Amino acid sequence: SQNIYILGIESSCDDTAAAVLHNGRILSNVVATQEIHQKYGGVVPELASRAHQQNIVPVIHEALSRAGISKNDLTAIAFTRGPGLMGSLLVGTSFAKSLSLGLNIPLLDINHMQAHILAHFIEEPEFKKPDFPFLALTISGGHTQIVKVSDYFQMEVIGETLDDAVGEAFDKSAKILGLPYPGGPLVDKYAQKGDPKAFPFPKPKVEGLNFSFSGLKTSILYFIQKQLKEDPKFIDDHLEDICASIQHTIIGILMDKLKKAVKQTGIKQIAIAGGVSANSGIRQTLREAEGKYQWKTYIPKFEYTTDNAAMIAIAGHFKFLSEDFAHMGTTAKARIKM
Ligand code: KG4
Ligand code: ZN
Repeated sequence: SQNIYILGIESSCDDTAAAVLHNGRILSNVVATQEIHQKYGGVVPELASRAHQQNIVPVIHEALSRAGISKNDLTAIAFTRGPGLMGSLLVGTSFAKSLSLGLNIPLLDINHMQAHILAHFIEEPEFKKPDFPFLALTISGGHTQIVKVSDYFQMEVIGETLDDAVGEAFDKSAKILGLPYPGGPLVDKYAQKGDPKAFPFPKPKVEGLNFSFSGLKTSILYFIQKQLKEDPKFIDDHLEDICASIQHTIIGILMDKLKKAVKQTGIKQIAIAGGVSANSGIRQTLREAEGKYQWKTYIPKFEYTTDNAAMIAIAGHFKFLSEDFAHMGTTAKARIKM
């Protein structure tokens, strides 16, 4: 049998990541998270690009060394072509191209959003894989989509956000509460001890399978401002209940559309992908949906939810198998369709 070693490189936003897969199985998965952005309350593109330049060589080195292989063992190199921040994408793209040229091995260009979904196909002994067709709910800092997945690279967006992404809704709400960036994981943490019904927030009315989150952010802002006028300690005293209520509202919005998508497509297999699928409330709700709605739900291992290179490598693995190689003229692309 064939021995396929794929190096995956991810640099689309603020994480520099590299991973090595052997026949679809993880040998190493390294992520260098850029702390620099925290004090700015969001990712600063120019700083991200510079940090990628500093991190990329050590991160790839570490991935190869943890995998216990040398660069000469590699079969092909997969990299994130987009979507993402141009300056960040360029670092990974240029590096991947140079390495593939230097080692004289194939280059595989990967769509970051497809990769989030394909993370479900990383070989894991106790990890069930979805069958085609399935619906993927991709929820990250930049995207909120419902995708009909018919095959590894046959994906159709059937619903998406008209404004903010779910991750932004979490992060902007967290910012209103004075929590540091990225606030999503902190909202999740406090929500676990709060009452999800403490403060009802309105759900937006949006047609079809599309989403909108900017109104929610505004209503949270107004609500908090009003409460603070009456009680300057409102946030401190009610942080857990506020977070639980925000998270509950966001989950409700997502579930309403998922139910609609299932009804519309007749597909009852649901996979979640993207950074926000690390959220404990969303994971719990989807697990419960198996019994409640007879869905089959797929929840990725925690380390494959937020940005990582293992997902880029597994996407590369399938592209390699179908001999769908990139050429040296390939360029980074800030916006790419599914
Ligand atoms: O997929 P990702 O790592 O990067 C993008 O491609 O955007 O997603 C990052 C987003 C951030 O908005 C972050 O706050 C959110 O995922 N996030 C969470 C949780 N963990 C990460 N949001 C809510 N609950 C979490 N546990
Ligand atoms: Zn992502």
